[in-house]
Amino acid sequence: MTADWTILSGMAHPELAAAIAHGLGARTVGRFPDGEVSVRIDEPVRDREVFRVQPTAPPVDEHLVELLAVADACRRASAARITAVLPYFGHARSDARHGRREPIVASMIARLIQAVGVARVVVVDLHTPQIEGFFQIALDTLTAVPTLCEALRARLPAGAVVVAPVAGRVEMATGYAGRLGAPLAVLHKRSTSGTETAVTHLVGDVSGRTCLIVDDIISTGGTIVESATALREAGAGPQITVAATHGLFVGAARGRLLRAGISRVFVTDTVPVAGGEWPELEVVPIAPLLAGAIRRLVADGSLSDLF
Ligand code: R5P
Repeated sequence: MTADWTILSGMAHPELAAAIAHGLGARTVGRFPDGEVSVRIDEPVRDREVFRVQPTAPPVDEHLVELLAVADACRRASAARITAVLPYFGHARSDARHGRREPIVASMIARLIQAVGVARVVVVDLHTPQIEGFFQIALDTLTAVPTLCEALRARLPAGAVVVAPVAGRVEMATGYAGRLGAPLAVLHKRSTSGTETAVTHLVGDVSGRTCLIVDDIISTGGTIVESATALREAGAGPQITVAATHGLFVGAARGRLLRAGISRVFVTDTVPVAGGEWPELEVVPIAPLLAGAIRRLVADGSLSDLF
């Protein structure tokens, strides 16, 4: 068991780190006038275990460099072990080469995180499982599915169908369906041009039923809107609810979801979510899950009861 440990919050989501632990380790993260990151750890970390909480949410690259800089500072200050807690792992969608001359950015980031001395990584609902293989160090993937199901249970009408919006989300949707005792439907989409996609297949019966579309990330909202349109064309509704782990809501995403007539949107706060003026949005705290994981890791305990 590690005797001394510290949670260092990052600039990406200090409220989440504060919710995980009341006594946060002190650090100063700022910017030099030219934009370069400036970091100082304001308390000793020698022989301490450091948990660095930093979702690499937008602006992804800034938050990533801060994460790396703080880990580097901790390593050089003789921290006993550095654990990067990444509630949201940015650049996760660059996880394979889909064409010629493309990088695999998620793999590059994994190498950078290891290069600065991080010994262990904790993430929530990785976009794809192969990202785990990019790391040669311990990686624990937590899931927000039980947390979101708790919030959803009393809110979904009987007969609701859980919908995977893409084939890659079938495993996650199966988890929701099992916990909620609901049937499953699957949509398949494919690219129609370099930038456009379209839903081409629906497997499952959604006619006249409330649908719960589940996903790991809502970014532009495009996937959800396309899915809702396809479900309505297949006779689903009138209610369509959405649950996702990471609510990025980039650009016009919120307006898009509102116009698509989504009844309710459930997300966690793995990334900061501005919920004002959006009564259909419910933000479910992820801090209890992360605090539970950190407690078990400090005690060298198993995380398996959290899944
Ligand atoms: C796709 O595979 C993912 O599950 C998400 O659906 C996707 O990344 C969400 O992005 P957007 O909201 O921009 O469609």
